[in-house]
Amino acid sequence: MKETLKGKVAVVTGASSGIGEATARALAERGAAVVLAARAEEKLRFLEREIVATGGRALAVRADVVDAASVEAMIEQAAEEFGSLDVLVNNAGLGLSGRVEDLRAGDLRYLFEVNLLGPLNCMQAALPRMRRGGRIINVSSVVGKRAIPKVGGYCATKFALNALSDALRVEVAKRGITVTSVYPGTTRTAFRENSRRTKSEKRGWRPRGVTPEKVAAKIADAAEGGGRDVYVTLPDRLFVAGTSLAPGLFDRLLRSWAKD
Ligand SMILES: NC(=O)c1ccc[n+]([C@@H]2O[C@H](COP(=O)([O-])OP(=O)(O)OC[C@H]3O[C@@H](n4cnc5c(N)ncnc54)[C@H](OP(=O)(O)O)[C@@H]3O)[C@@H](O)[C@H]2O)c1
Repeated sequence: MKETLKGKVAVVTGASSGIGEATARALAERGAAVVLAARAEEKLRFLEREIVATGGRALAVRADVVDAASVEAMIEQAAEEFGSLDVLVNNAGLGLSGRVEDLRAGDLRYLFEVNLLGPLNCMQAALPRMRRGGRIINVSSVVGKRAIPKVGGYCATKFALNALSDALRVEVAKRGITVTSVYPGTTRTAFRENSRRTKSEKRGWRPRGVTPEKVAAKIADAAEGGGRDVYVTLPDRLFVAGTSLAPGLFDRLLRSWAKD
């Protein structure tokens, strides 16, 4: 693997699991120094040791993205350790299942804290340190482009994240900072098990999905070259294109998913 990110410093939130963990490895393999942020410190330390043992540079920092002071301290520690900040991957996230009719305000509020205010806290802490330009990569979802039944609350948080990404992209363009939205489809991680549930609803059929490494490779490409919207697979891209061309048709097709 070519060290295309040598000399760059990247922060990855949610690096203790799934897509974030795979992304941290991918960025380290490409030569970046990687700051591993999440709440599960033990898992982060384990990954830090693994990356360092294979010749990479990594720093585990416990951070809760919901807590602005904790994020600020993490970014400060990253800058102290590695001297600069070039890439921020806002990957930490949480799911929520439940029909709109049943959603509890408290659950949805917390989801917005993690999936929207979390990335906002990280961007606000990171941007002043991106003095030589930079890349912000926000992990959204295909269902952040077309909401689907029984996860409407989760979809709403990703739609909101896309809005921040689109506004920020234009605001920071002149500073040499790019903002990329990544839209994974189903990915084989612990995401579903970690998601909140509204009731004891059954979780319906889900595509088998891709490996987190596949998503991580796309994120690492964006860390190198920027880009606006990144899809992981062609079917994901076709799904989103189809839903904007024929939204009513997709409403009808998605009715089968709304059944119990
Ligand atoms: N898996 C999918 O099918 C899929 C599809 C599309 C998009 N996504 C998105 O991809 C991202 C990663 O999900 P994943 O599939 O890798 O799920 P995951 O395995 O459940 O990982 C979620 C990560 O987020 C971190 N996290 C959650 N709350 C946090 C908080 N308050 N502060 C800091 N870190 C926090 C977790 O770490 P700690 O618990 O240690 O804090 C964990 O590392 C999410 O944004 C998700 O919405 C996933």
